Amino acid sequence: MDIILLGPPGAGKGTQAKFMVDKWEIPQISTGDILRGAVRDGTPLGLEAKGFMDRGELVPDRVVIGIIAERLREDDAQRGFILDGFPRTIPQAEALEEILTELGRNIDHVVSIDVDDEELVRRLTGRRMCKGCGESFHMVFNPPRTEGVCDSCRGELYQRDDDNEETIRQRLKVYNDQTSPLIDFYRGLGKLREINGTRTPPEIFSDIVSTLSG
Ligand code: AP5
Ligand code: MG
Ligand code: ZN
Repeated sequence: MDIILLGPPGAGKGTQAKFMVDKWEIPQISTGDILRGAVRDGTPLGLEAKGFMDRGELVPDRVVIGIIAERLREDDAQRGFILDGFPRTIPQAEALEEILTELGRNIDHVVSIDVDDEELVRRLTGRRMCKGCGESFHMVFNPPRTEGVCDSCRGELYQRDDDNEETIRQRLKVYNDQTSPLIDFYRGLGKLREINGTRTPPEIFSDIVSTLSG
């Protein structure tokens, strides 16, 4: 199963990817997570990416395409993958088609999660992430059992640098301008599976499962 998770910031891509990893035992490949890891480690990639990410803008296409071209060749991705947050522009989607053709593979499903803007702002301003395992929580919608501590790995919870209202609004604008054209791109390829993202995470997941198997 080669799957793309498409949706605006806060739609629940990361949340649904975790369910999918558990069910299908294929890796979640999140360009956002890879870039944040590089920023944390202070690598040249991280130094290049940080300014774009803090402003809520996209990191240049050539950078993220290079990351994905390498990542999809790793062993754990050979049985399938869940792309979370890639592609985000038409040139990225076209590059992905080329990479997959070289590898003799093909995207099976593009799961597009839809949520309205005000709900996205509520979700992102209240989000807390785990430093250990990357799981995301929400102070109101999905609070951890102990404040500030991850339920799964007991890691420390933190707020992402780009989860402030001003940057969130910029990320939403960038999504609408640069990423939403991918909806028509994948509809044209017959791969788009549209999911209503304003229900509970387990309800959304069971909808994804039935849509992909139906
Ligand atoms: P990235 O890390 O991909 O961030 P994003 O797209 O803005 O999406 P988020 O991770 O914020 O949201 P999500 O959909 O994963 O939601 P989550 O499940 O956490 O990218 C960050 C930056 O990196 C970009 O701005 C860009 O600079 C750069 N970048 C990354 N990829 C790039 C690319 N391909 N090209 C160029 N630049 C790139 O859920 C959100 C919150 O809501 C959580 O608190 C969660 O608990 C809660 N929640 C989840 N589901 C529900 C529900 N059903 N009901 C209620 N609450 C819910
Ligand atoms: Mg995410
Ligand atoms: Zn954790």
